[in-house]
Amino acid sequence: MKNAYERFVRPLLFSLDPETAHHFAIACLRGASHVDLALRLLKSFQAPAKPKSLFGLTFPNPVGLAAGFDKNGVALPAWAALGFGFIEIGTVTANAQPGNPKPRIFRLSEQQGLINRLGFNNDGADAVAERLGKLRASPESVWGWPAVPVGINIGKSETTPLEQSAADYVYSFQRLHPFADYIALNVSSPNTPGLRSLQVRERLSILLGALRAENQTARKPLIVKIAPDLLPNDLDEMIATCEENEVAGLIVTNTTLDHSSIPPALDQEGGLSGAPLREKATAMVRAVVSKSTIPVVASGGIFDVASAREKLDAGAQLLQIYTGYIYRGPDVLREIVEAL
Ligand SMILES: Cc1cc2nc3c(=O)[nH]c(=O)nc-3n(C[C@H](O)[C@H](O)[C@H](O)COP(=O)(O)O)c2cc1C
Repeated sequence: MKNAYERFVRPLLFSLDPETAHHFAIACLRGASHVDLALRLLKSFQAPAKPKSLFGLTFPNPVGLAAGFDKNGVALPAWAALGFGFIEIGTVTANAQPGNPKPRIFRLSEQQGLINRLGFNNDGADAVAERLGKLRASPESVWGWPAVPVGINIGKSETTPLEQSAADYVYSFQRLHPFADYIALNVSSPNTPGLRSLQVRERLSILLGALRAENQTARKPLIVKIAPDLLPNDLDEMIATCEENEVAGLIVTNTTLDHSSIPPALDQEGGLSGAPLREKATAMVRAVVSKSTIPVVASGGIFDVASAREKLDAGAQLLQIYTGYIYRGPDVLREIVEAL
């Protein structure tokens, strides 16, 4: 049976083009983040606490918001009110940038998927740091800094040459780490040319080495977000490099470039997420867990209790959701957390 979101809100959102719907939803949540009554209303969706400790942090429940939904960190109080166990904002880049030309988000409604080629449209590290600083300085109140862990996902600015990636990530790290409970390094988005080659051993060592040096005092957990399309040998090397550099966790996975599960007529260039990614992401979680003791945060095709359980059974410690939330709304979170 369809829930209230699926019956009333989704048809309205899906009558808009996907990016307009996204901006509308974010604008509502941003607005709600400043209104006591609205936050109280959103809190009615919350599930009972199912605490989980990882990376030296306590998560009220293991289901978080995946990166990309709130790229600029404009609605933290609303996400916390909705009951997410943690919130990952970003991807933020050192420079503000507009991303790729529109249209750049496509719905695959029948398949319960999305394709996006946004290309890290975001306000840039300085603006996001300033926004987070203001929220943190706001007086203790219901719409202040959230009580759940906040991760900040950083990536490479489009105009920065690949060889200078490390300095670019370091800049974002310096500006943003004071506000982050963990920092996620996005080296797996398919929409920034060359970015995924940062998963290759030589480049990843340089990047992790630079961030590790920078992280000596802050000691924030560094987490690497990987692609589902890595070949077995590349995965082995990537894991070895992460282990050598004391990476705290791996987010498995980002969107996929493998579009074989969707009809060619609907195909678009970009990263595929949602139900068509589910199996591939779960297989990747299983592969990573079999090769390493680095804790895994699973992302990809989590839509309901069964798909969430599947990721936990594959060995994931925490879960993240994006596309499933767009299709199923706030109830999906409560449903999953209640069942855990
Ligand atoms: C429209 C859209 C934008 C995204 N933007 C980002 C991003 O900026 N950084 C990132 O690491 N992942 C991004 N992702 C990937 C998601 O965080 C997630 O890893 C992926 O969609 C798989 O999970 P899902 O099937 O629950 O959506 C984006 C996904 C979508 C659909």
